[in-house]
Amino acid sequence: MQRPQSPAPRIMKRVFSGVQPSGSLTLGNYLGALRNFTKLQHEAECLFCVVDLHALTVPQDPKELYQRTLDVARIFVACGIDPKQATIFVQSHVPAHSELSWLLECTTYDGELRRMTQYKDKAAKQEVVTSGLLTYPVLMAADILLYQTDEVPVGDDQKQHLELARDIAVRVNNRFDEAIFKVPKPYIPPRAAGGRIMNLQDPMEKMSKSAENPRGNIALLDPPDAIRRKIKSAVTDSGREIYYDEENKPAVSNLMVIYSLCSGDSLEEIQDKYAGSGYGKFKEDLAEVVVETITPIQKRFAELSEPGVIEDILSDGRKKAEPLAIPTLERFQDRLGLLARS
Ligand code: AMP
Ligand code: TRP
Repeated sequence: MQRPQSPAPRIMKRVFSGVQPSGSLTLGNYLGALRNFTKLQHEAECLFCVVDLHALTVPQDPKELYQRTLDVARIFVACGIDPKQATIFVQSHVPAHSELSWLLECTTYDGELRRMTQYKDKAAKQEVVTSGLLTYPVLMAADILLYQTDEVPVGDDQKQHLELARDIAVRVNNRFDEAIFKVPKPYIPPRAAGGRIMNLQDPMEKMSKSAENPRGNIALLDPPDAIRRKIKSAVTDSGREIYYDEENKPAVSNLMVIYSLCSGDSLEEIQDKYAGSGYGKFKEDLAEVVVETITPIQKRFAELSEPGVIEDILSDGRKKAEPLAIPTLERFQDRLGLLARS
C-alpha cells in the first residue's frame, strides 16, 4: 500500500476562516472579518466555515444553536460571499476537523493553552469551565491546518490563536522533517481598518455577539430604528472635537472607523467634514451610513430564508470541503503510526 504523499503545489492561494454561531453577528464581525471574506473570494480559493463545534465550548440552547448555524451561513451569503466562488460549510459536517483536533491536542502543551488570553477571559465568566474551552484553539488550528491554508482573515482578537496554529504546524513539520502542514499567515486588518471594532457603550471592550452590554452592539439584523437609537446613545469622549486618536479619544475614534468603513470616506475626510459641528450631527449621519450598509444585507438575508436554499448551499459546501481535508488527515495519521484502514 502506498503511503499518503504531500499534495501537489497549488497556483492559487487558499484562504480559510470561521465564524461561531454563538449569537447574532455584529457590525464588528462584518467590518473585521466578513467584508474581507467577500474581497478575498475573487483572488483566492476560499473556504468559509460556520464553526458550530467551537460554539459548544460554552453552554448553548440546542434549538438556538441549530437556527443560528443556518443564520450565520445565510449572513455569509447576504454579505456577498458567492457560494459558486467560495465554499461555505458547517464544521461538524466534516468530521476530519474533530479527528485532527485530537491528534493536535496530543502535540500541544497544557501551558500553551492556559496562557491564551481569550481562554482566561471566557473562563472567568463561566460557572463551570469545560475542557473544550481550554482546547478550543487546537480545534481552530485543526480547521486551518486541515486545508493547507495559506491565509486566515480574522479580526485582531484571533491573533494569539493564529500564532498557536503556526507554532503547532512548525512543531509537527520539524518532528517529521516534512511539510505535513502549511504554516498559515494571518490576514488581520489594522484597528483603523476594522480589525477591532469596539462596543459603543464601552470603547475599551470589543463589540461582541455575547456582549454584556447589548446596547453597545450593533447586530447585522437589528432593525434600522434600533441602530439609530444605539448610535445616538453611544458614549463619546470629553471635548467636542472629532478627530482620530485611539489613546485619548477612543470612543470617537471607534465611531470614525465605523463611518469610514461604511461610507468609504477616509478618516481625514470625516475629520474635515465635521470640523466644528459637534457630536450630534456626526452621530446622526453615522446612523444613516450604517443603516445604508446593513439594509441590503438584511434584504438578501430575508430572501435566503426560503426553506432548503441555505441547506443546499451547505450540502454542496461539505461535498467540496471534505475531499480537500481527508488527504492531510490521512497523511498525518500515517506519519504518527496509526494503522491504515484497509
Ligand atoms: P466570532 O464572533 O468570535 O466568531 O468572530 C468571527 C470573526 O469576526 C473573527 O474573525 C473575529 O476576529 C471577528 N470579530 C469579532 N468581533 C470583532 C470586532 N469587534 N472587531 C473586529 N473583528 C471582530
Ligand atoms: N475562533 C474564531 C473566533 O472566535 C473562530 C474560528 C474557529 C476560526 N476556527 C477558525 C477563525 C479558523 C479562523 C480560522 O472568531
